[in-house]
Amino acid sequence: MTKNIYIGEILKNEEVAQDVFQINVALHAAFGKPQPGQFVMLRISGLSEPFLSRPFSVYSFALKKNSCEVGLIYRVVGKGTRILAGLIRGTQVEIIGPLGRGFEILRDKENIVLVAGGMGVAPLSFLAQNLRTYLPSSRIYFYLGAQNAAGIIGVEGLEKSSCSMSLCTDDGSIGKKGLVTQVFQEQIKSFSPDSTVIYACGPKEMLKGLAKIIRGTEFACQVSLEERMACGVGACLGCAVAVKNKKSSVTYKRVCADGPVFNIREIVWK
Ligand SMILES: Cc1cc2nc3c(=O)[nH]c(=O)nc-3n(C[C@H](O)[C@H](O)[C@H](O)COP(=O)(O)OP(=O)(O)OC[C@H]3O[C@@H](n4cnc5c(N)ncnc54)[C@H](O)[C@@H]3O)c2cc1C
Ligand code: FES
Repeated sequence: MTKNIYIGEILKNEEVAQDVFQINVALHAAFGKPQPGQFVMLRISGLSEPFLSRPFSVYSFALKKNSCEVGLIYRVVGKGTRILAGLIRGTQVEIIGPLGRGFEILRDKENIVLVAGGMGVAPLSFLAQNLRTYLPSSRIYFYLGAQNAAGIIGVEGLEKSSCSMSLCTDDGSIGKKGLVTQVFQEQIKSFSPDSTVIYACGPKEMLKGLAKIIRGTEFACQVSLEERMACGVGACLGCAVAVKNKKSSVTYKRVCADGPVFNIREIVWK
């Protein structure tokens, strides 16, 4: 279960919206190309205070001659992300990854619906970029929700990937007023389950709402979960989620090693 630890150097770490930062890290090319939906565990090198690694989804990736550049976006929510936000260009960080099982690309679906809440935009933006490369003629519909206009991130990049954008906010300060799942539900009839796949990432309540919306339909739907993690590599069982097995009995899977991407119908939404 041990994975390679890469020492990376911060190339930039900039505030892109209130309390949201984009950090780009240069790593050895051996890190390899991550799949959309995969994540990294990031830790500040040599910090005397104990600082557990924190998981972040890959937001961007570029391969250079002998190195690669991994981009992440993160919201400052607690101790770890606060320390991270204070790091300057040139600081060394430790990265373990790419980790986990990413999104499965279904090549027979011409309509792709992406539903993101808050920082769920990170893995889905990376997925949109990849889909544009591998399925150039697909139609990508991106539903992006946040609490308010300041929480809507990454729209420019998504428009470059020719995504058809639907923005919504809880307070109506940008886009439609309401939950992103409600806005998608209003338009779900314009998609056919035969030709559409749904990918989603966001807070658990949002994903639970989506599970309810598509219950009884034939839509293929994959979700990326953001459970709290300790080791990130399948060793501690701290990230277990309840899932249904084929006989419909309940068992547990590790979000870090068996996910973070799951079939939405597999999860027991308590
Ligand atoms: C696979 C995966 C991918 C992720 N990708 C991103 C990403 O791209 N961008 C991003 O901003 N965040 C992402 N997260 C969440 C991120 O890891 C946490 O926000 C971060 O670890 C918080 O660290 P902290 O020390 O600042 O906060 P802490 O001091 O540890 O906690 C502060 C607050 O945040 C809550 N919190 C901590 N971790 C999580 C979590 N995993 N889910 C929900 N609430 C949490 C705590 O309950 C607490 O209320 C991801 C999590 C996972 C598991
Ligand atoms: S975080 Fe340790 S098993 Fe998943």
